[in-house]
Amino acid sequence: MREARTMGMNQPPHDAARESALREACERALEQARRGPLGANPRVGAALLSPTGELLATGFHRGARTPHAEADALLAARERGLDVHGATCIVTLEPCAHAGRTPSCARTLIDAGVAHVLYAVRDPHDIAANGGALLRDAGINARLWSDALPGSVGGDLTARATEMNRRWFQATRESRPFVTAKIAHTLDGYVAAVDGTNAWITGEDARVEGHALRSTVDAIAVGTGTALADDPALTARDAHGTLAQRQPRRVVIGERPLEPHSRLAKATHGPEHARPLLYRTRDIRAVFENLRAEHGVEHLLLEGGPRLISAALTLDLVDDLWIHEAPTLLGAGTPAVTGLGIGTLENRLDFDIVPESLHVSGSDLLFHAIPRARQQTPTKGE
Ligand SMILES: NC(=O)c1ccc[n+]([C@@H]2O[C@H](COP(=O)([O-])OP(=O)(O)OC[C@H]3O[C@@H](n4cnc5c(N)ncnc54)[C@H](OP(=O)(O)O)[C@@H]3O)[C@@H](O)[C@H]2O)c1
Repeated sequence: MREARTMGMNQPPHDAARESALREACERALEQARRGPLGANPRVGAALLSPTGELLATGFHRGARTPHAEADALLAARERGLDVHGATCIVTLEPCAHAGRTPSCARTLIDAGVAHVLYAVRDPHDIAANGGALLRDAGINARLWSDALPGSVGGDLTARATEMNRRWFQATRESRPFVTAKIAHTLDGYVAAVDGTNAWITGEDARVEGHALRSTVDAIAVGTGTALADDPALTARDAHGTLAQRQPRRVVIGERPLEPHSRLAKATHGPEHARPLLYRTRDIRAVFENLRAEHGVEHLLLEGGPRLISAALTLDLVDDLWIHEAPTLLGAGTPAVTGLGIGTLENRLDFDIVPESLHVSGSDLLFHAIPRARQQTPTKGE
């Protein structure tokens, strides 16, 4: 492989060796990105090449409050005692310019002394964007993959980087949180039996995973139907029932009032930061926007029930469906989703399973699924 200082910038587009090395590094960065979780932040991967073109290290973002992919790759290189000065950083999203939960990646790359930064997609997030400009102002050769790799090669790699975070980009554009909807259902698609009992459809291991996710999201929402039927606490707990250190904000959506002696109603008299937010409305899009704007909610977990999740699905507000499927049958009961307004097969809502997420937890099957791009967004709610 050519020397990295020329590899990133000045070589003519027909230099096959350079192109192949860059393409390989982009593939590695994409591979890393796929290891990250869905949630408040996009899935991002990075690869570092030495000035002579060897792969120094790779990294990825493990979710909110953890190092970004670029910092993760730099750390991995340093842990191996490798010099990153003059290196090329190849990353699937524009390095952020904003120092928030973690330091700005653009600043981290400048301080590390890298010479080139190639990123797949521009960051659409107002406060994070412009990392590319910050890098260029510091004299670093920062540009898009599509500028560095000609024609269909750059186009295809960029399309894959975009598709990987399509729903995160959509949520950001719509100024709302990334929404994960969790459904625990039987093999025949029910979330409760005919008499309303539903504790517990899935086993202990799946429930522990459910609580682990609760402790990472910013808020959990249920409809008044679930609040009234189940009297949930909506807290994040470990297998022994001990409260997790980090608790999500609790949210109830619907016009009916809570039962005055319910757990959630009692918590409205507690400390301000732990009080449930009660939205006496069915306008869930407005609720989601308000949660982000007023309460800083970047990742919202919808824990049911069927009518709330169905309304969110109908309005194309679910970015990630997290399925817990129990190997059991009920034959009748409360269906997992209802009233999507679909009358014919061709109007069905399709999803793509996230392959990396598919696993057996205890006796249950767990996986994430992302909605496929729709031709047009239905507007009819329930
Ligand atoms: N296994 C599971 O994963 C699971 C999880 C949760 C619940 N469940 C079960 O599901 C059952 C409750 O089902 P559910 O469908 O009544 O619960 P739900 O979806 O939690 O609540 C439905 C209520 O949400 C309110 N709502 C707010 N915005 C809405 C909108 N845009 N569209 C429609 N409704 C909206 C409405 O209440 P208002 O009339 O007050 O406006 C509606 O009646 C219980 O048996 C519960 O145990 C199972």
